Amino acid sequence: MPDLFSPFTLKGVTLRNRIVMSPMTMYRSVDGKMSDFHVMLMGSRAAGGFGLVFPEQIAITPDGRTSTGCAGIYDDAQMEGLTRVTTIIKDMGAVAAIQLGHTGRKGSEKKPWHGKTQLPPDDPDGWQVRAPSPLIYGGRYTYPVQELSVAEIHDIHRAYAAAAKRALDCGFEWLEMHFAHGYLGASFFSPLANQRSDQYGGSLDNRLRFHREALDAVRAVWPERLPLTMRLAADDFNAAGIQFDDAVWAIGAMRQHGLDFADISLGMNTDAMKDVPFNQVAFMVDRAARVRREVQIPVGVSWNLGIPQVADRVIREQLIDLVFLGRPALANPHWPVWAARELGQNDPFALVPEDWAWWIRSRPGPEGSLGWPPVAR
Ligand SMILES: Cc1cc2nc3c(=O)[nH]c(=O)nc-3n(C[C@H](O)[C@H](O)[C@H](O)COP(=O)(O)O)c2cc1C
Repeated sequence: MPDLFSPFTLKGVTLRNRIVMSPMTMYRSVDGKMSDFHVMLMGSRAAGGFGLVFPEQIAITPDGRTSTGCAGIYDDAQMEGLTRVTTIIKDMGAVAAIQLGHTGRKGSEKKPWHGKTQLPPDDPDGWQVRAPSPLIYGGRYTYPVQELSVAEIHDIHRAYAAAAKRALDCGFEWLEMHFAHGYLGASFFSPLANQRSDQYGGSLDNRLRFHREALDAVRAVWPERLPLTMRLAADDFNAAGIQFDDAVWAIGAMRQHGLDFADISLGMNTDAMKDVPFNQVAFMVDRAARVRREVQIPVGVSWNLGIPQVADRVIREQLIDLVFLGRPALANPHWPVWAARELGQNDPFALVPEDWAWWIRSRPGPEGSLGWPPVAR
């Protein structure tokens, strides 16, 4: 029976454990480039024992970013920073994952700590947002949305392929398409955001065409030996939006298009969500477990899995295959070491680089002097 610290192999890639640093947008890029900050952030989490480490959502086009402070992979000049990030992740014993994204009608934002509202197209830090249909999201997203033409959709698929090719050259070994959280892929899938009458809208099959074509474009350049995965908008929590049954069907359909793993998340195509248990522990796990059972595809999930005993249990019960940690990974770079201690693993410091581990193991000092509190029992 696997536990949180069992290795996990998918295609030709083996993770040392089941703990993933979930993608988190940091708004610290300039011209879409990653820098020392990102090397520090990802390097410290890899050194802290995470098995798979994602930087933030990385945009495939300039207008696919959340803000002008967000990272991209649409220009060769962005490859140096990304390669520095993959190099440190690998040096510290983890696998480097990339989340490719396009924010669609939720782009052109201010940084959260500057107000997180949308900027108009004529602002120096704003742009014209594009999406399947000219529907303004509402709430803090207030500016007109331009409907994508079919030719522009094809351009976006070509941009996904170009981004995947660059990602491979930068040393990433796990690729996730970000089709959740109200961004472009999510809005094609949701009847709340997609009201097209052509082959990309209407029926469920048509609303999944954007995804299938994106997968086909990426799979053509992304080697078979490396996992091709997706974070899917699986539920809008709104009667007029994506229903979870549709997502289960969609994941099955995308398996035929090279999908190797599903990361189940929220639709977020509207603020009008009903009964989302945002503060409930592990609230997306049952949904992911159903996908795993019915579609027979490995799955991962985030949302409130930061309690070690819970994270371990959902792996042991084989409900999910990987635990994605967002806020816990920000709060504690050594979350895996902490969890290993709490769960009574033999040698928690085996998770840190071996030179640190040697010193910590062989010179532990007086009881309690290492900087770790006693294990909670
Ligand atoms: C600061 C921050 C930035 C985030 N940025 C992204 C992102 O770029 N892509 C994404 O798919 N999810 C993003 N998320 C969501 C997380 O990846 C994760 O799914 C969510 O926080 C739930 O997991 P948690 O309960 O462990 O925090 C972000 C979350 C936070 C806190």
